Amino acid sequence: MIRRKLTKPEKLTIETNIQSENTLGYGIFELIMKGKNTANTLFAMENHAYTNRKKKPNLGRYEKIRKEFESGEEDLFKRFLSVTSPEKPLKEYKFFDLFAGCGGMTQGLFQAGLQPVAAVEINPIACATHKKNFPNCFIHNKDIREFNPTDWTRDGSIEEINVIAGGPPCQGFSVAGKRDPNDERNRLFWEFVRIVKEIKPWYVVLENVPGILTMQKGQVYKTILGAFADIGYPNMSVNVLESATFGVPQFRPRAIFIANRFGLPNPYPNPQLTPDRYLPIESAISDLPPDTARPEINHEWTRHSQKMTARISKVPPGGSLYETFFDAWKRQYPGIPSMTIKENHGGTHIHPYLDRVISAREMARLQTFPDSFIFQGTMKQAMWQIGNAVPPRLAEVIGCALIPFLNAINIEVIPSTSNATLFSVFSFSWHSARPVLSASIKIFNSKGKSTVPVLRAFSANFPFLLIPLV
Ligand SMILES: C[S@@+](CC[C@H](N)C(=O)[O-])C[C@H]1O[C@@H](n2cnc3c(N)ncnc32)[C@H](O)[C@@H]1O
Repeated sequence: MIRRKLTKPEKLTIETNIQSENTLGYGIFELIMKGKNTANTLFAMENHAYTNRKKKPNLGRYEKIRKEFESGEEDLFKRFLSVTSPEKPLKEYKFFDLFAGCGGMTQGLFQAGLQPVAAVEINPIACATHKKNFPNCFIHNKDIREFNPTDWTRDGSIEEINVIAGGPPCQGFSVAGKRDPNDERNRLFWEFVRIVKEIKPWYVVLENVPGILTMQKGQVYKTILGAFADIGYPNMSVNVLESATFGVPQFRPRAIFIANRFGLPNPYPNPQLTPDRYLPIESAISDLPPDTARPEINHEWTRHSQKMTARISKVPPGGSLYETFFDAWKRQYPGIPSMTIKENHGGTHIHPYLDRVISAREMARLQTFPDSFIFQGTMKQAMWQIGNAVPPRLAEVIGCALIPFLNAINIEVIPSTSNATLFSVFSFSWHSARPVLSASIKIFNSKGKSTVPVLRAFSANFPFLLIPLV
């Protein structure tokens, strides 16, 4: 393999025969490298060794799942919104992040303009990272089974939390891993449901691997939909979002469940990039030093022996160092988004050009974490946190799609002087520019608080079927 260090910005055209989730043919990826740093550190392949040795990538594993899922009945509540010029939040919308990890989801929703107020996470190192990056968000470092939401919500007011988001552990559901319905980790979904039931957020966002949609012939996801319907979120939608279509330089499809308790649509971001515009791996990592670690920004990687380096040098893009570890130690393809990244005990994917695995910061860049987001713990612990995270950019576009709908909900709770009065006034209007129903609710009662019966009556119907309760 011959490498050439670029000395000035230049155009690098890489032709690939990659068949990705969304491309059915051949793709040509043009990568225009700009800037001094990039030119200093990008290595260009000269002898097309990779082109000759490359294997057919296995990037379309979830495609079957997506098709199976899409063949189901139509979801009238699912809406797709452009997030190219996102709407600003009209007020401060607060969210709660369950199974928060280091905070990939938190970071993305925060970037969209939502405010993280509390999070639950069992791992102390992930909590330390969360705390460092979101000092104003209260992180509960405990097993979610021991978490009592009313400890946090003080008076149990329905207005307190606008969104609950979270990614319960997914190994039990993963196509790649063991798919055991009795897996203890699958049961953690029920903890998520319990907390939503107690806090009653306006919207719920639940993230998981696409494999969840076909587990037990679709019974698992139907059980999840049923569980939320039973607690007042009857029209939950599910969609598989491919992170790469939103500018994440990584193929990372995720199943996103969205529900609300007002009978409103469940908004999803419109894909922004066609496959030929997906960001290639180089766009995210080429300016990081190839040989010099920078621990202060988590730019550290597993050091290999000479023998190991020699072995790695022989691994072609898409090939793995170990035949038996299908998903680990794989050489990244140049010119296209990264493969889905994961930690794998320090054996992350191999750099597309260098004979080493990628660093924790390179992983973070591929997940779209900003460089200011610093991970606590050892290098391997950082890789674990990063590999588990929702790409902040994916969470951000989900948040951007939610905001117009949050803006459309206006709940005013007005104290009433009469003990006998319990009535609601609803007003609503269709926004002509987008399919958002604006629902304005004024709830009067003797204690100045809205009550569950009022909301249940509301959420069980389409807004236009609602009759004011007088
Ligand atoms: C897939 S990760 C979530 C990643 C996170 N959403 C992000 O974007 O960074 C799942 C997290 O659940 C946490 N977890 C597992 N079991 C838990 C439990 N019983 N209580 C609380 N957190 C738990 C894990 O430590 C892990 O960080």
